[in-house]
Amino acid sequence: MLLLLVDIDGTLLRVDRTVTRRVWSDAWAAVLGGQVPWNRLDSMAGKTDLQILAQLLGDRSAAQAIAPAFFDTLAQVAVESIQSDAISLCPHVGDFLHAMEQSGTTLVILTGNERRCGWHKLRIAGVEEYFVEGFFGCAALKRSELVRQALHWARSRFPAPLPVPPIVVGDTPNDIACARAHQIWSAAVATGPFSFDTLQAHQPTACFRHLGEVALSLQRIVSQASMSRKLIIAIDGPAGSGKTTTARLLAERLGYTYIDTGAMYRALTLAALEQGIPLTDDALADLLDRISIELRHTPSGQRTFLNGRDVSERIREPDVTAHVSMVSSFPSVRRVMVRVQQQLGRHGGVVMDGRDIGTAVFPDADIKVFMTADLDTRARRRQAELHQSNPTVTAEEIKRQLDQRDRFDSTREHNPLRKASDALVIDTTNLTIEEQVERILDYVRQRTAVLNSSSLEQ
Ligand code: DC
Repeated sequence: MLLLLVDIDGTLLRVDRTVTRRVWSDAWAAVLGGQVPWNRLDSMAGKTDLQILAQLLGDRSAAQAIAPAFFDTLAQVAVESIQSDAISLCPHVGDFLHAMEQSGTTLVILTGNERRCGWHKLRIAGVEEYFVEGFFGCAALKRSELVRQALHWARSRFPAPLPVPPIVVGDTPNDIACARAHQIWSAAVATGPFSFDTLQAHQPTACFRHLGEVALSLQRIVSQASMSRKLIIAIDGPAGSGKTTTARLLAERLGYTYIDTGAMYRALTLAALEQGIPLTDDALADLLDRISIELRHTPSGQRTFLNGRDVSERIREPDVTAHVSMVSSFPSVRRVMVRVQQQLGRHGGVVMDGRDIGTAVFPDADIKVFMTADLDTRARRRQAELHQSNPTVTAEEIKRQLDQRDRFDSTREHNPLRKASDALVIDTTNLTIEEQVERILDYVRQRTAVLNSSSLEQ
C-alpha cells in the first residue's frame, strides 16, 4: 500500500570507504590509466556514479561517452573485491525490512550506485530479495532523474492511487532534494555521514535517527490508510462525452463498482413504453412502485434488469433513447431514482455516471468530474456505437437528436445537467479514452494526497 524508494549506502548498508575508493581506483587505472584525481571530488555522498565520473573527468560528455566501458570494469572489480567483510547493515535494517514486508509495503532501490555494483552489495548483505525493482545511477547525471524513472514505473505498477505519495528514504541532503523536485515525500535517516540536525536543516518530510523509527512511523500510516473510506467519484456530462467508457475503465482500475445511472432512467422508459403508460409524473411514479429495476454487477460489467429480465441491450435502442429525457425530467421519478442511487453509493468505492451526480445525488462526492466534447465529435462517437444496430442513421440525424436531448436535459426544472462548481472539467474532444482515464486517475491521486491528512511526523 506504500511505496518506498530506498537508498543503499549510509541508509541500508555501511560499506568500507577505502574499499569503495580502491574499486574506483582499479577501474580508473584499467580504463583511463593513471590515478583517480580525487581532489576534484568534494564528496561521493548522495551522488550518482555517472555524476561522480563527470566530476572526476571535469567533463559531462566525456563521462557519458566513457560510461559503458568504465562501468563494465567498475562492476567487474566491485563483484570481485567487495566481500561481506567490507559491508555491514545500518542500525535496525533487519527490523525495518521485516516490518515493511509484513505491512505489504513495496520496496524499491533508488541509488547513485551503478546497477551491478548496487545489486552485488545488497546480495552479499543478504537483503536483495526485499526489493522488487531498482533505479541506479549509471545513466543519470542527477539523482532526481532516478525519481522521475521510478515514478514512471510506479504509475503502471499502481494504477490506483496510493494512500500517501511515494517516499524517498535516504541519508543525504541529495535524497531530500530529489524527492522535493518531484513533490513526493522524503524520510531522512541520520545513519550516514550527515547528522540529524544537518539533515533536519534541509527540511525532509520527516527526519529519523535510524530505520527502526521509520518503520514505526510508516506502520501508523498504513493502519490509518487501511481504515480510510473508499471514495465516491461522480462523473457527469452530456451524451457522447465519453463518460460511460471512461467511468467503467476508471472503476476497473480502482477496483471500484461502476454505476451507470442513465440505465435506470432507460429501464423505466422501457417499462412505460412496453406497458403503454402515459409519460406523466403521476403515472410514472406509480409505475416505478410496481416494477423492479436492478443493476447487477457481473464479471462482464454492469447489467440492467427490469422485473428480472436482462434489458441491457434493449434499453439502448432508439425508441427508448427518444423518450428517456422526457421520462427523467419528472420530479417524482427523480426523487425515487436519486434516493436509490444514494443507497447504492453510500459506502463509497463507486464511480457513478449521470447528469446530476455531483450536484444532486452526491453533492459532497470526494471527486467530481464534468466531461464535455464538441457536438460533432459526440455525434461521430454515437454513430460509431450505433454502427451495428442502426447502420443507416446519418451523422446529421444523430447530431440533431443529441442536441435536442442535451438541451432538454440541461433546461429541465429538476436537477438539470449542470457542472458542479467544484468539478474538474475535461474536454474530451481531442483525447483518447486512455488519456481521459489517466487524467482522472492523476486527479484522484492529487486529491487523495490532499484528503489524506496522514503525515510521516504524526
Ligand atoms: O447517460 P444516458 O444517455 O444513458 O442517459 C439517458 C438519459 O437519462 C439522459 O438523457 C438524461 C437522463 N439521466 C438523468 O437525467 N440523470 C442521470 N443521473 C442519468 C441520466
